[in-house]
Amino acid sequence: MLTGRPYDLIIFGASGFTGQYVVEETARVASDADGLRPLTWTVAGRSRTKLEEALGRAASALGIPELKSKECIICDVNDPLSLAAMCQQGSVILNCVGPFLEGMQLKYDHQAADKEVYIVGSCGFDSIPADMGVLFTRNQLKGILTAVESFVLIKTGPEGATFHEGTWQSAVHGISDQDNLRRLRRQFGQKPLPVVGTKLTRRGSVFYSDTMNQYAIPFMGSDASVVKRTQRYLHENLNESPVQYGAYVAVGGIGSVIFLMVAGFFFWCFTKCRLGRKLLIKYPEFFSFGYFTRQGPTQKQMEGTSFSMTFFGEGYPEGLNPQHGKPSVKICTQVKGPEPGYIATPIAMVQAAVTILWEQKSLPTRGGVYSPGAAFLKTTLIERLNTHGIEFTVISKPEA
Ligand SMILES: NC(=O)c1ccc[n+]([C@@H]2O[C@H](COP(=O)([O-])OP(=O)(O)OC[C@H]3O[C@@H](n4cnc5c(N)ncnc54)[C@H](OP(=O)(O)O)[C@@H]3O)[C@@H](O)[C@H]2O)c1
Repeated sequence: MLTGRPYDLIIFGASGFTGQYVVEETARVASDADGLRPLTWTVAGRSRTKLEEALGRAASALGIPELKSKECIICDVNDPLSLAAMCQQGSVILNCVGPFLEGMQLKYDHQAADKEVYIVGSCGFDSIPADMGVLFTRNQLKGILTAVESFVLIKTGPEGATFHEGTWQSAVHGISDQDNLRRLRRQFGQKPLPVVGTKLTRRGSVFYSDTMNQYAIPFMGSDASVVKRTQRYLHENLNESPVQYGAYVAVGGIGSVIFLMVAGFFFWCFTKCRLGRKLLIKYPEFFSFGYFTRQGPTQKQMEGTSFSMTFFGEGYPEGLNPQHGKPSVKICTQVKGPEPGYIATPIAMVQAAVTILWEQKSLPTRGGVYSPGAAFLKTTLIERLNTHGIEFTVISKPEA
């Protein structure tokens, strides 16, 4: 904990759809954050009025009127001085403004290390369940885990599920930016990770999963790249053998597959030109067939939605050389939780922040830009998540 700073946590982008739920989750855990004392926290963003409204909504939702009297910090991404001033007031900043991932590592890793700052991206549903789930699977297997495939399944209630347009905008920018991302990755100049054990077969863009009993497609979010960054960290810094990983989404029957293929194709075409991107961002509801909306999911939709991520791992018993023969040990684990975007994400973000705050000695010794698995490898984040509604379990024990 950094001394002399008025706040343990600052929620930046608290006026956003996700930010609102992060504010509420922070308020819920602040008095009992498994630390030595209650957390001190406040909100930051570019509009005082909107921040005060967010605090007002949280005060009504949780029945804590004092939330309305919190000091708001005014800060804009386009004003570096205001960013610096905000950062100087808090030990941990929870960024709910938008994603900044691998580019940050390339640009700022050394500076962060020099200043003993930890920047941990992807601490929401993307990609704490996947990244920590692979580490959990590895820890449960007595032997060497060499490959894992995960399948995420979203269950919805009678009201269905929708997402807020903020995630849609990130997806539009993310897909249109893929060439830049490839260029950026080349700048890292990293060697390919060694393949330990049998090479994991890359699945097609649609396949029937016998284990999930339904069709599945590759997961388009950041899970695969985040897990890979963690595995690279473990290999290059701790000399551990890297786990190969494939991330998939279970989508149901053939009707869903056809719908997703057609919708995905048009989405991809639109992201290729500026006008297309403008239209996608202007009319999220129309282009996403109502799945992404300006108002986001309703409370009822969120209450009826949940996720499970099932991990199928394989490896070799202790003492056996993974370079010889096929993997002979299998394990199945699962991470389960509530609605992913706005209930599980705030839980994961707040618990990640609390872990940074209370378990600084278990973080990597050098500051820098980290993936969650690399940052939280030696911490009790999984135990903390387990007690806050994101559960990690072994479905079938390692069997030879
Ligand atoms: N990892 C995950 O699993 C996960 C889950 C959910 C969301 N997300 C991500 O979270 C991000 C936010 O999503 P959302 O749906 O909450 O979007 P949103 O409602 O549009 O919220 C965006 C927030 O960023 C603020 N903001 C925008 N530009 C800013 C600037 N220049 N300076 C300071 N603040 C600025 C907005 O402030 P104003 O209110 O003043 O406009 C608002 O508070 C997206 O990138 C989304 O993909 C990730």
